[in-house]
Amino acid sequence: MLAMDIERLYSDRAKKMRSSEIRELLELSQMPGVISFAGGLPNPNAFPVEEIREIVNRILDEEGGKALQYGPTAGLKEFREELVRYVGKEGIKAKLENVFVTVGSQQALDLIGRVFINEGDVILVGLPTYLGAINAFLAYGANLVGVPLDENGVRVDLLEEKIKELRQKGENIKLIYTVPTFQNPAGVELSNDRRKRIVEIAEKYDLLIVED
Ligand SMILES: Cc1ncc(COP(=O)(O)O)c(C=O)c1O
Repeated sequence: MLAMDIERLYSDRAKKMRSSEIRELLELSQMPGVISFAGGLPNPNAFPVEEIREIVNRILDEEGGKALQYGPTAGLKEFREELVRYVGKEGIKAKLENVFVTVGSQQALDLIGRVFINEGDVILVGLPTYLGAINAFLAYGANLVGVPLDENGVRVDLLEEKIKELRQKGENIKLIYTVPTFQNPAGVELSNDRRKRIVEIAEKYDLLIVED
């Protein structure tokens, strides 16, 4: 590539993307001797290395090159069927066409932004909320509106007030983004009552819920 001012050629969307603090933290965590408490890194001893080795070997023995071939965009059918069964045990009645496999939840957040967000659409988020979601949604021009948390998660009383206030101003609210379990970064759990209340509010005001 020619040495040139390449940023001049960036799309408006790329110009809205911010350098992520997460990326910088993960970079630092690779330095020898650094034990990072900041980047949310799991303990490597907790990874099931032997089990993964066994599974990979078995799949390569049984499937050979087929296992490394391109597959369906939504994910392997057998895997999606297994996921339907898995969430079914938790009482979630999903059908195969409801399941789309992504490379972690960050990709899902990006796809949600791409599919649902027009410039200026409002996304209601916890205050504070997960940095990676903020960056993904801002890249699509979302207007992020924060609703404060307390020790039981997002303040649902304030959530409804906020929705009314925004609607009055003619804002187009699209969805509620929530991290109900082990909220990042606050670490709080959304109480069961509030979980039910969020569903009621979303139904009442015709909003999507994105649960991360
Ligand atoms: C709330 C939340 N959402 C999404 C992610 C990113 O998840 P993934 O690694 O699956 O893309 C994280 C990672 O820390 C997170 O805390």
